[in-house]
Amino acid sequence: MSTESMLARKSFVALLLVTGVAFLRAAEPTIVIDASAPSGKVSPLFYGLMTEEINHSYDGGLYAELVQNRAFLDDRQSPLHWSVVQSNDSAANMALDGSEPLNTTIGTSLRLEVTKASTAHRAGVANEGYWGIPVRPNARYRASLFAKAAPGFTGPIELSIQSNDGQTTYASGTIAGLTQSWKQYELTLQTRGVAPTTAARYVLTVDRPGKVWLSVVSLFPPTFKDQPNGFRPDIMQMMVDMKPKFLRFPGGNYLEGDQIADRFEWKKTIGSLSDRPGHMAPWTYRSSDGLGLYEFLLWSEDMNAEPLLAVYAGYSLKGVHVNPGPDLEPYVQDALDEIEYVTGPATSKWGALRAKAGHPQPFKLTYVEVGNEDWFDKSGSYDQRFAQFNAAIKARYPQLKVISTVGFEQPEALRVKSVKPDVLDEHYYRTVDVFLKMARGQYEKYDRHGPEIFVGEWAAYETPFEPWNPRSRGEPPTPNMWAAIGDAAFMTQMEKNSDIVVMNCYAPMFVNVNAGARQWRPNLIGYDGLRVYGSPSYHAIKMFSTHLGDQILKATGTDTDVLVSATRDSRSGTIYVKLVNSSNAETPVRLDLQGVKSLASTATVVTLAADAKATNSIDAPQAVAPLTSKVSDVKSGFVYRVPATSIVVLVLESR
Ligand code: AHR
Repeated sequence: MSTESMLARKSFVALLLVTGVAFLRAAEPTIVIDASAPSGKVSPLFYGLMTEEINHSYDGGLYAELVQNRAFLDDRQSPLHWSVVQSNDSAANMALDGSEPLNTTIGTSLRLEVTKASTAHRAGVANEGYWGIPVRPNARYRASLFAKAAPGFTGPIELSIQSNDGQTTYASGTIAGLTQSWKQYELTLQTRGVAPTTAARYVLTVDRPGKVWLSVVSLFPPTFKDQPNGFRPDIMQMMVDMKPKFLRFPGGNYLEGDQIADRFEWKKTIGSLSDRPGHMAPWTYRSSDGLGLYEFLLWSEDMNAEPLLAVYAGYSLKGVHVNPGPDLEPYVQDALDEIEYVTGPATSKWGALRAKAGHPQPFKLTYVEVGNEDWFDKSGSYDQRFAQFNAAIKARYPQLKVISTVGFEQPEALRVKSVKPDVLDEHYYRTVDVFLKMARGQYEKYDRHGPEIFVGEWAAYETPFEPWNPRSRGEPPTPNMWAAIGDAAFMTQMEKNSDIVVMNCYAPMFVNVNAGARQWRPNLIGYDGLRVYGSPSYHAIKMFSTHLGDQILKATGTDTDVLVSATRDSRSGTIYVKLVNSSNAETPVRLDLQGVKSLASTATVVTLAADAKATNSIDAPQAVAPLTSKVSDVKSGFVYRVPATSIVVLVLESR
C-alpha cells in the first residue's frame, strides 16, 4: 500500500472514530441536574394516602373484625352471612327479631331457638366471615357478644373457630350465666400451632334446648399494636413502610353516599360499637362503621401522618343536593363540630368525646376538604355551598386551609368563583399514555400564586376499560408494571412542581381480592384474609416517598424518553434522582450534575424493572419488587444505563 493510501486510510479510520464517538455521544442523551441552587421546596406533605370504604377496604380489609354482619343489620329480611348449625341429632332455627332489639340504635337481634341438642350433638349458628375466618397459628382472638336468654336457659354457649366442615376446632371457649337481660360477654380464643387457613367459620352452639338472642357478635384476631377494635397488622405495616405524610378520609364517594341519608354521618360512627348503626355505603354494601371517625384519626397517628378531613358538603351521588343558605346550616354546623372533635381541647363539647374515647390530645389538622367531586352537581350549587362552608370554617378556624373539590381539570363553569379556595383537588384516572403526556409539563403552566393543588385521587390504568367500567372487573385487581410506569412518570411531574402541587395520593388504596369483593380497579394494595401484597405501583410510590428530601432541583432531559425528577436533602446533601424509562429498551443517559462541590463515587440504586405486563398477585406477591444495588465511578457526566421499562432512584451522596 502506498504512503498516500495508508494516510488516506488512517484519516478515514480517524474520521470513523470521531463520528463514532460523536454518534455514541448522540446516543446518550444528557440529563442536566442543576444543584447550584434549589428551584423550589418539596412540599412537606409529599406523599399521602387516600382511603374510603370501597372493595371491602375496611369491613373485610384493614378493620380487623372477622364477623360479617355482626349486628344483624345488613338486611331487613334475613341474617346474611349467618347459617344454622345442626345435625341429624340436633335441630335449631334462627331469625331476625325486631321485638328484642339491643337498644334504640341496633334495632334488631338474632333469635336462636334450639329445639334439640346434646353434648355430642350441638346446635347453633355460624358466621362465614369475610370470605372465610382466617385462622393464624398461636394467635389470640378477642371474642365478644351481647346475649340474653328466654326463661329457663342460662347457657353455656360455646364459641369456636372451626373448619367449614366442622371436623376441626382451631380455638374455643364458653360463656355462661345468661340472664333475661342484655349483657356483654368477652373472652379470648387461642389457636395452637395450626396451619393457616381461611376455610373456617365462627360457630356459636349450645348443648341443650333453649332460646337466646344475640347482638354485636364480634371476633378480632391480633391487631396492630394490640389495639382493641383495631387494624390488621400486615396491612398497616404496608402503609407505615410508605412513610405517608397525610391520610385523606373518609372519601371519595363514601363521604357522599347515594342519598343524603347515606352520607358519612360522623356522629353515628363514634362511641361504643353498640351505638353505631352502620350505614348503606355507595359501593353496594353496608358499612359497619366499626372504623369510624375516631379510628381514622388513630390510623393517621399510627402512621405518623396528618389527617386530611373531608366534610360532607350537601351533595350526594344520585344528584341530590341541599340548598345553600338556611337548609345547609345544620350540615355546616356538623362540619364545625367534626373539626372540634378532631382538634378541640378536651374541655370542648366534641373534644371531650374524643378524650373520653382515649385521646385527650387534639390531632393536628391543616386541611379540610369540602365535599368530593362536586363537579357532578350539575345544579350549580357548589359555588355557594363551598362559600358557606368556607366562611364558617375560616371564621372559627382561621388557621385551616380549605379545599374545593373542583380543580383545573374540570370545565371553568363548574369551578368555585365567588371566593378563592386555598386549594383545588384534582382527580386523574387516565391511561398510561395520557399520564406519560401529563408528565411532560402538566403543572409547569400552573400559576404559582395559587390556589395550591391537591391531586386527591390519581391512578394510571393499562387496560382498555376505565376503572369504573364493570368490564374492568374481569381484569386483575391491581395494576401491572406498565401502569406503574405511568404512575411514576406522573410522580416525576408532581414532584418537580411540588411547590404548587402540595399534596397527592393514589386511589383507591385497597382491594380485597376475593371474587365479588371489589367494585373498582386498579388498586394499590391487595389482600385476602391472611395475605397482603403491593402492586408495582405500590413499590413505585414507596420508592418515591422514601427518597425525597426537601429541595427541588431543576432537572431537564433532552432527546430522551427517560423522565426525571431530582430532589435534595438540605441537611445531608443527598441528591435523589428518579428516572422513569417507558421504553422497552435499555436507555443510556448522561447525567450532568452541575453545581455539585463533591460527589461520592459510589451511589445506591433502587430499581423496579420488569416486563411491562408483569404484575404481582396474592399468589405471586413479589414477582415485581425493587432491588437495591450499588453503582461506582459516579461523577458529573457519568453515563447511567436505565433498564428497559424501569423506575430507578439514584441516591447520590454529595455536598
Ligand atoms: O376512587 C374511587 C372513586 O373515584 C372515588 O370514590 C371517587 O371520588 C372517584 O370518582
